[in-house]
Amino acid sequence: MINFDFKTTITNVVKEEDLLQYKNKKNEIMESFQKCDMIGWDKNVSTDNINHIKQMMKEVKKNSSLLLVIGIGGSFLGSKALYDMFEHYFSDQFKVIYCGYSLSSNYLSDLLKLLKDKDFTVNVISKSGNTMEIKLAYNLIKGFMQEKYSEEEIKQRIIVTTGTSGYLYEEARTNNYRTLSIPDDIGGRYSMMTDAHLFPLSFNLDIEQLISGYNDGEVMKKEAYEYAIIRRSLFDKNKIIENYVSFEPKYEMFIEWLKQLFGESEGKNGKGIFPTSTIFTRDLHSLGQFIQEGNKILFETFIIVRQNSEINIDNTNLNNINNAVVDAVRNAHYKGNVAVNFIEIDKLNEYNMGLLIRFFFYSAAFSSLLFEVNPFDQPGVEVYKHEIKKSLENLK
Ligand code: PA5
Repeated sequence: MINFDFKTTITNVVKEEDLLQYKNKKNEIMESFQKCDMIGWDKNVSTDNINHIKQMMKEVKKNSSLLLVIGIGGSFLGSKALYDMFEHYFSDQFKVIYCGYSLSSNYLSDLLKLLKDKDFTVNVISKSGNTMEIKLAYNLIKGFMQEKYSEEEIKQRIIVTTGTSGYLYEEARTNNYRTLSIPDDIGGRYSMMTDAHLFPLSFNLDIEQLISGYNDGEVMKKEAYEYAIIRRSLFDKNKIIENYVSFEPKYEMFIEWLKQLFGESEGKNGKGIFPTSTIFTRDLHSLGQFIQEGNKILFETFIIVRQNSEINIDNTNLNNINNAVVDAVRNAHYKGNVAVNFIEIDKLNEYNMGLLIRFFFYSAAFSSLLFEVNPFDQPGVEVYKHEIKKSLENLK
């Protein structure tokens, strides 16, 4: 279950009458949304493919001790976010490791050292199949595999998730590698319920429950619109930064995913709210000062997942301490005239995360449409991709 508490009005930053103009726009925004291309994610996800995904996962577990996922942006953040959320901090179970999301030589050389004595499978994920970071990491890892495994073995150990054209599509076709797909009408950051995420997630999550929550999440449109108009009204009051807050370090990547979802959907034509993030209580001892008393350009959205704790400190359950801290921070920030939106999940499970993901998809789409920008393209990212292609050609 998820509770939404958007009492931004408590701080008097946004008043009920400020919201009215956007409330009146609801039908118009819903109509624009239905007319958008790339809303293939807004339908019931079928579970037909689940058995195939699970079968592949079991095969990988038989011959590998880890899965190496190569991806960036929308082909990486979502699955890494949920993987971290559900993984134990210190575990020696089957690992999913990610690469391709940076060009860190330190990371890649340490990774190769780790892979030397391990049997592993690679899942390379790119909708376009052409993204530079992914191609480079893939070519490095494939070269490494060619020294370790026979061509026949490599066929068992490379799984390509891509669209219907591009470098990786051709690579899989030529070498007869196993493939998974990303539908044409779903963009990277909205692809959480496609093979791009469901396959890597099948290693540590119940993906059927995730899909079930996501499918039920269709009813979240109402809350998503409410959140979207509050964000839009806050922006009108010069609150141009949204600080996503978690009190659990394991959820840091989920917030990174949110930053991509909103930043890439909304930040166009000189518009949009800049998403940032903090992990509390860690950052209360750093950015907490700015939030409480600094330039009043930001508002906050707390993502709180209630947990049970077995730990008692000084005869008090750690869970109760955490809950008290959440309330204290919220009240302190209200006192500093910082608007706080509150999204509370009663328990971390796959079903609830499916609901939450659908809520955020709708919110990002509606918020973008309220800014009169297309939620589903990323022309700014394409500029970078084009420039890097030119620069790399000059290196040859
Ligand atoms: O959301 C998006 O569309 C982007 O962030 C892409 O996912 C990212 O640029 C990676 O693209 P691709 O999956 O084509 O390699």
